[in-house]
Amino acid sequence: MSDGNAIGRTLTVSGVFAGYDAADVLHDVNLTVEPGGVTCLLGANGSGKTTLIRAILGLTRPRAGEIRFGESDLTTLPTHRIVGAGIAIIPEGRKVFPRCSVEENLRLGAYEIADRAEIRRRMEVVYDRFPRLRERRGQLAGTMSGGEQAMVSIGRGLMKAPELLIVDEPSLGLAPNLVEENFETIAGIAKQGVTVFLVEQNVHQTLAIARRGYLLQQGRVVESGDAKSLAASDAFQQAYFGAGH
Ligand SMILES: Nc1ncnc2c1ncn2[C@@H]1O[C@H](COP(=O)(O)OP(=O)(O)O)[C@@H](O)[C@H]1O
Ligand SMILES: [Mg+2]
Repeated sequence: MSDGNAIGRTLTVSGVFAGYDAADVLHDVNLTVEPGGVTCLLGANGSGKTTLIRAILGLTRPRAGEIRFGESDLTTLPTHRIVGAGIAIIPEGRKVFPRCSVEENLRLGAYEIADRAEIRRRMEVVYDRFPRLRERRGQLAGTMSGGEQAMVSIGRGLMKAPELLIVDEPSLGLAPNLVEENFETIAGIAKQGVTVFLVEQNVHQTLAIARRGYLLQQGRVVESGDAKSLAASDAFQQAYFGAGH
C-alpha cells in the first residue's frame, strides 16, 4: 500500500480548501486513492465532486492543502504534466470532439505521445475492449449514440495508458440500460489493473463495484470506509434514506 512499490502510487489529498472567486467549495478535504480497484467519491449535485477533480488536475488550484500522487506534488505541477504523469480523466458529460472521427478522438487522447507504433498499440487495446469502435473508427463521434460516445470518451482516457483513471459521473444523462453497461466497463478496466477513482451520485451501482469510498457533503468528507460500512453509516443513511424522503 505504500508508495514506490510494484503496484503503483497512491493519490493523497490532504487538507484541501478550494473554490471559485470569493468562496471555498471544498473545506479541508482529506482522502486517499490507493492503488488497485475502484475507490469512489459519492455526493449529491453541487457537493463539490467536480471541483475536487479540477483541483487534482490543477485546473482549480487549492487555496490550502496538498495533493500528491506517489512522490509528486500535483499542487505545483501544470495540468499537462499531471495528465502526462499517469493520470487520465473522463470528464462529466463525456465530451467527445463531435466533428472528429472515432479514431481522431482516440489519437487526441495520446497527443503527447510521439511514437506512432505505441499509439497504434494503445489504439488496438482500446479497439479490443470496444469492438464497436473498431467497426466505426471512421465515423464522426458527434453522430454516434450516447452509449457509443461514452465508449469513445473512455477509450480516449485509456489512450494515455493511465495508472489512475478518474471518472466524473459516468451515469449522468445516460439511459438506464447503458448506465449498467458503462459501470461494467469501468469495473473491467479496474480488474485489468488500472486504479479507478469513480465520482458519482448514483450510489447503488457505484457501491456495487467500489472497494472503498468517501461521502462528500457541501464540500466536506463526512464519511469514509469500505463500500459496505460506507453504505451502513449513519451519514450515508441520512443522506440517501433520511427523514423527509
Ligand atoms: N466555474 C465555477 N464558478 C463558480 N462556482 C462554481 C463553478 N463550478 C462549480 N461551482 C459551484 O461549486 C459548487 C460545487 O460544484 P461542483 O464541484 O460542480 O459539484 P458536483 O460536481 O458535486 O455537482 C456548486 O455550488 C457550484 O455552483
Ligand atoms: Mg460534477
